[in-house]
Amino acid sequence: MSVDLKKRRFLTAATSVVGAVGAGFVVVPFLKSWNPSEKAKAAGAPVEADIGKLEPGQMMRVKWRGKPVWVVHRTEKNLADMEGLVGSLADPNSDQPQQPEYCKNAHRSRKPGYLVAVGICTHLGCSPTYRPEVAPHDLGADWVGGFFCPCHGSRFDLAGRVYSGVPAPTNLVIPPYQFLTDTQLLVGDDGGAA
Ligand code: FES
Repeated sequence: MSVDLKKRRFLTAATSVVGAVGAGFVVVPFLKSWNPSEKAKAAGAPVEADIGKLEPGQMMRVKWRGKPVWVVHRTEKNLADMEGLVGSLADPNSDQPQQPEYCKNAHRSRKPGYLVAVGICTHLGCSPTYRPEVAPHDLGADWVGGFFCPCHGSRFDLAGRVYSGVPAPTNLVIPPYQFLTDTQLLVGDDGGAA
C-alpha cells in the first residue's frame, strides 16, 4: 500500500516536471532508468546465457562486468580425466577462495557437466586458450584438455584448477551464478546462495 502511494507521488511529480519543462527533457532519462544500459551491464548487472545448444565438449563465452566468462559443457570423459590430475595441481581441492562455497567441490561447479569460470589468467591477466584436445603435440602426452595461457605458459584443467609449477598462483575465478532452467544460466547472481 505504502509502495503504491510512493509510486503515485513519484508519478505525480514526474508529470508536473513534464508539464513544466517539456517531454523531450524528461521522458528520455525516465525510460533509460527502466532499461539497463550497456554501461550499467558492464558495471555489474547479471547476464543471461542460453546454453541449450552447447554440445558436450564445446565452450561459449559471455561478457560479465567487462570480463570474459566461459561456459564449458564437459563430457563424462573430461570429468573422469580430471580425477586423475590431482597430483599435478597446485590447489586441487580449491582451498583458496577463488570460487563461491557452492562450487568448492571436485568439479568447481553447480553441475558436474558445466564449468562456468572467469576467463582471465590469475598470473598477469591474459585470457587463456581453450584446449580440449587430448595429448596435442605442443602440450604433451599428459594433456587431457584444459586451458593454456599463451602469455607465460600457465596451464589449467577443465575445472579451472591451476597446474603446479606454472606462473599463475591460483585457480581461475568462478563467478556467482545460478541455473534459471536447465538451459538458462544467470551469471553474476546466485540468488543469495553464496
Ligand atoms: S598471464 Fe597467463 S601465464 Fe602470465
